[in-house]
Amino acid sequence: MTSTTTADTAPAEPTEDAGSAGDRFDRDDLPTPPGATGALLRSLLRPMRARVALIALVLLVQQLSVQAGPLLVAYAIDSGVPAFRDAEYGPLIAVAVGYALCSAVAGGTQYAFVRVSSLVNQDALLDLRGRIFRHAQALSVDFHERYTSGRLISRSTTDVESLRELLSEGLQELIGVVLSFVSISLMLLWLDFGLGSLAVLSFVPLYLLVRRFQRRAGVLYAERSSAIAAVIVKFAETMNGIRPVQAFRREPVNDAHFEGLNNTHRWTNGSAMLEMGRYVVGSRLVANTAVAGIVLWGAYRVASGTLALGVLAAAVLYLRRLYDPIDRLGMFLNSYQSAAASLEKIAGLLAQTPSVPEPSDPRELPALTGEHPGREVVFDQVRFAYRTGGEVLPRFDLTVPAGQTVAVVGSTGAGKSTLAKLLARFYDPTDGRVLLDGTDLRDLAVPELRRGVVMVTQEAFLFSGTVAENIAIGSPDATRAEIEQAAKAIGAHDFISALPDGYDTDVRKRGGRISAGQRQLVGFARALLANPAVLILDEATSSLDIPGEQAVQRAMDTVLHGRTAVVIAHRLSTVEIADRVLVMEHGRIVEDGAPAELIAGTGRFAGLHRAWRESLT
Ligand SMILES: Nc1ncnc2c1ncn2[C@@H]1O[C@H](COP(=O)(O)OP(=O)(O)OP(=O)(O)O)[C@@H](O)[C@H]1O
Ligand SMILES: [Mg+2]
Repeated sequence: MTSTTTADTAPAEPTEDAGSAGDRFDRDDLPTPPGATGALLRSLLRPMRARVALIALVLLVQQLSVQAGPLLVAYAIDSGVPAFRDAEYGPLIAVAVGYALCSAVAGGTQYAFVRVSSLVNQDALLDLRGRIFRHAQALSVDFHERYTSGRLISRSTTDVESLRELLSEGLQELIGVVLSFVSISLMLLWLDFGLGSLAVLSFVPLYLLVRRFQRRAGVLYAERSSAIAAVIVKFAETMNGIRPVQAFRREPVNDAHFEGLNNTHRWTNGSAMLEMGRYVVGSRLVANTAVAGIVLWGAYRVASGTLALGVLAAAVLYLRRLYDPIDRLGMFLNSYQSAAASLEKIAGLLAQTPSVPEPSDPRELPALTGEHPGREVVFDQVRFAYRTGGEVLPRFDLTVPAGQTVAVVGSTGAGKSTLAKLLARFYDPTDGRVLLDGTDLRDLAVPELRRGVVMVTQEAFLFSGTVAENIAIGSPDATRAEIEQAAKAIGAHDFISALPDGYDTDVRKRGGRISAGQRQLVGFARALLANPAVLILDEATSSLDIPGEQAVQRAMDTVLHGRTAVVIAHRLSTVEIADRVLVMEHGRIVEDGAPAELIAGTGRFAGLHRAWRESLT
């Protein structure tokens, strides 16, 4: 809840400073290593090399068939018509047949292009979305605590979508435009070198216009992509926190903030369109000037007898075609800039490496001896600081023998959850080691670690699916009998059986909604079934009410039996089932002993316990 409040305290200014796009949203985007964007695009297209080559070939054939038109016209004027006057129809018939053929080829190749290119871009986008999902899922908790899920959603939706636009429409435009520029220039130069050179010269100002547009639009599109992400983040955050939002009447503030973000998005979009407009106007000006110059000069030469009329006619037709695609080039540049900005963001995301890397030489744990599943846990001179903020654990030493249940208490912010996250290896220590039966967690094979250490937290999360599936999350091979057995041991069987479809009740459907306390019981059953050597409970009983306390104690006894356990609890009754109590303050252990021993003493825990006892009576 604190995060909701702090995020909302940022003043929501109206539109007047919309020019400073981005001030209102988190610019902490991930840096993209140089060359990563191009490498990503190549790696997406590489598996489809053959198809991409086919597309280029199809477009080349299409260009040739389209560009043959004016040549046929020139031939008809300069040879066909004079021959026709001599009652010789061959040349004109040849022109007509040639024209029909060219049209047929142009149509056929267009169809072929659409077929092949849709396959290519569908495959590329499927691949990209899959990569984003897999990669984000593999990144460490540390990353997800910084980069919100809203931004991830934006990366895999709007950013992937703008790449789709580039691949489907943009690529055809680009290849088409480049091919027609090259082929038309060659035709013009071949028809008449002087006129052709003039046309080619006009490319210089056009090129400068393109560069200017690219430079300006690039910045705007990068901003736009962040702005869309900010809109989605705000949306997701508000709807996820809808209860505190409504409880604290945050709606008006949220509305204003959201409107600000939305306006930033609109502003970047509008500015990009404006740039596009400037480009189009500038390029038309250049094109019209060039056409006027060429036509005037050509007409003068026809009049003075140094140029055939047919050649001038063909040249004018070619010129129109030459400058026609310039608007389309603008469209392409537009989608290119937008896709490049998106691709860069995606590449930045994909370049992130897990801060908790998999071991290069993974080790297995020694086989368990004895009937109990517990293993020894050692914190060896551990120091830890989050990426942001000061040191949370200054120098932490702790040995928990196999099978021992340790309760950790201490004031809020003492570092209890941090301790738990280090033991579950959501984070690695800044210095020192965490050992499981003598093996550094960093060297442990990932499946071994997941089997060995399980953490149950306050917000026992339910995934979409049935209750049974939720219990079996950590043990996909479990049979229904084993699932029910675990639920019975925890004391969750009764309420599960009372659900509309029992264990097969969908937890996201009507009637499948279960209370916070029931969710925690499901969390316990899940942990019991996973049967880890080390179990961490972080405030895992906080949603269970007092009448349920007896049942909770029994459930805990069952779950903890024989395991090494670290139980973080505000509730002192839970502490009584522990073999040992640690009192933590400011990342240090200030008291350590058996519960009875500490209660009898005069330390902090004795004081806490007395106060708790008194509160009960
Ligand atoms: N993801 C994080 N990034 C930066 N700092 C963090 C992060 N999580 C916790 N901290 C800081 O580390 C310190 C210890 O936090 P921790 O969550 O371990 O406390 P705790 O003992 O579990 O408290 P509580 O009893 O309230 O759950 C706090 O000062 C907190 O602000
Ligand atoms: Mg905590």
